[in-house]
Amino acid sequence: MQNNNIILMGFMGVGKGSVARLLSKKTGRINLDTDDLIESMENTKIKKIFANEGEPYFRQTEKNLSLWLESSVKNSIISIGGGFFHVNNLQDIAHVIYLESSFEAILERINSFDNAKKKLKKRPLLQDMQKAKQLISERHPKYLACADTVIQTEGKTSAQIVDEIISLLKL
Ligand code: S3P
Repeated sequence: MQNNNIILMGFMGVGKGSVARLLSKKTGRINLDTDDLIESMENTKIKKIFANEGEPYFRQTEKNLSLWLESSVKNSIISIGGGFFHVNNLQDIAHVIYLESSFEAILERINSFDNAKKKLKKRPLLQDMQKAKQLISERHPKYLACADTVIQTEGKTSAQIVDEIISLLKL
């Protein structure tokens, strides 16, 4: 496994963060989230980066971060933003797990939270549902192409997904 890292990849709202936190707790590995790292590095929220600097600037920060992850991070779980797979070195950073789900199941998951509105509001690419649906269908084959392991997440709890990862990767 590259630097003994595990990347959790998938569309916005699929539950990468929840799975990463539980996997971290169960395996004792450090959990890093690329959106959180970018927000700290830029000292501002993702939503504001998109609004003030534009999406190309955000994508460049993802590329810069990917170089640091490759050179400096080991033995960790890395939860990546839904578009982070665009970087050129994903496979050199970690073993990549694609958490797969239909768009409908993702929306259902988001809407099940008390703070669903907040979860939607903070994601600039989840404002227009038609566009988001189009985006997930464009990305699905690209996610598959980047993935070392694919896990179907629909109808499963985070705990079940974590157990599946632990058993598949023999962690
Ligand atoms: C994005 C996903 C977001 C965040 C940004 C762009 C995307 O992360 O990086 O809003 O392009 O899919 P999450 O997947 O954690 O929501």
